[in-house]
Amino acid sequence: MHFRRLSVLAAATLIAACGSDEPAPTPEATPEAVVEATPEPTPEPTPEPTPEAAPATIEHSDALKATLAKMPEADAGKTNPKLGDAAAIATGKDEWDSTCFPCHGKTGQGDGPASRAMKITPADLSNPEFMATLTDAQLFWVMKNGVEGTAMQAFGAALSDNQVWTILAYVRTLSASEAAPEGAEGAAPAGEPAGG
Ligand code: HEC
Repeated sequence: MHFRRLSVLAAATLIAACGSDEPAPTPEATPEAVVEATPEPTPEPTPEPTPEAAPATIEHSDALKATLAKMPEADAGKTNPKLGDAAAIATGKDEWDSTCFPCHGKTGQGDGPASRAMKITPADLSNPEFMATLTDAQLFWVMKNGVEGTAMQAFGAALSDNQVWTILAYVRTLSASEAAPEGAEGAAPAGEPAGG
């Protein structure tokens, strides 16, 4: 019987196959090609072409230069007695927010709403580099006398020396690395004796 023989053979073959200790073909472990990430050659930093107009924030305007040139030698040594005084800074902030803000901007960047119409806009008083170019005596002089030919008026008649120093104490905080003390707003400094 051919049929029967065939199936027996087939069975035998199956058994043989199963019993064979031929190792199952393990998939060849293809070693991952280790591709070193070749760093892009960094191009030589091309020096920025220095623009014609240097950042106006560091440069003094001609008007400001002219104003500072008029400062008497005798005034050059003036220093701010209110510098770092928390109470003065708080008062100065109030004054700034009401009087100076329209032109100089909330943070002193020279971007107050009124500055848009100006030909000569206020400098960036929040920039430490710019503020480093002005001594306290010079700031005082500018405040007292204004900057001729610009919207910066003379506050000499409207504000006492004390008031000017007080506002300038706040102005100096605008360029301090830490933001202007928020707590200073209207708050009496702790430990200050009441009445005085
Ligand atoms: C009506 C607009 C106006 C008001 C208000 C004003 N300023 Fe100015 N201020 C200017 C302008 C414009 C300049 C720029 C003058 C320049 O650089 O030529 C200036 C200049 C200055 C400068 C010299 C640095 C700079 O930007 O050139 C200081 C400091 C200053 N102002 C402080 C104050 C303070 C403090 C007050 C508030 C008591 C005040 N200003 C109010 C418009 C104003």
